[in-house]
Amino acid sequence: MGPGWLPPGLVLLLVPAVGSQPGGQLPRESQNLNWNKFSGFWYILAIASDTQGFLPGREQRKLGASVVQVHAVGRLKVVLAFNSAQGCRSHTLILRKDGKKAVFRNTLKGVQGFRVLSTDYSYGVVHMRLGRAGRASTTLLLLSRQNVSSFPSVRKFIDICEILELTTGAAILPKDASCAHTILP
Ligand SMILES: *[C@@H]1O[C@H](CO)[C@@H](O)[C@H](O)[C@H]1NC(C)=O
Repeated sequence: MGPGWLPPGLVLLLVPAVGSQPGGQLPRESQNLNWNKFSGFWYILAIASDTQGFLPGREQRKLGASVVQVHAVGRLKVVLAFNSAQGCRSHTLILRKDGKKAVFRNTLKGVQGFRVLSTDYSYGVVHMRLGRAGRASTTLLLLSRQNVSSFPSVRKFIDICEILELTTGAAILPKDASCAHTILP
């Protein structure tokens, strides 16, 4: 199977094909992630959440985008752009590294955790905990340097969705870059 765009809806067909993996292991946090290599512009090709109503309605879905920058030692600047019923919105966050752990936070801004679960620097699966401690929701993002996904990266994303039981709230975003390009560096 070659790389290619997966139309919305196909994700639902893919899930049974990939199969559930009871007791599946989450990939280890990328302890040795090279944040300089991970920096830069990413398309957000797919999103999953455990919170109902988090995903925009079908008509509002477009590719998202993120710009990641190493801001200072132990600090990341992350810009996220998403389309929703309110239109295309971008948010800028300064996140601080949690000691030696490979997780960044800004609890004042409601980011309890930002971590990369899997990457080869051409794609990335990012796990975010958003909201107040104890009542945070989980959001999973599939990042890609290009506006099309490769099959292995989508498979990785779906595998992780399965492990986190997020498949019912997962969507591959339609290939419309009009919102994503608003934060092109
Ligand atoms: C995707 O990117 C390619 C170039 O990398 C471009 O030609 C194409 O128009 C883009 N598609 C969309 C929907 O932006």
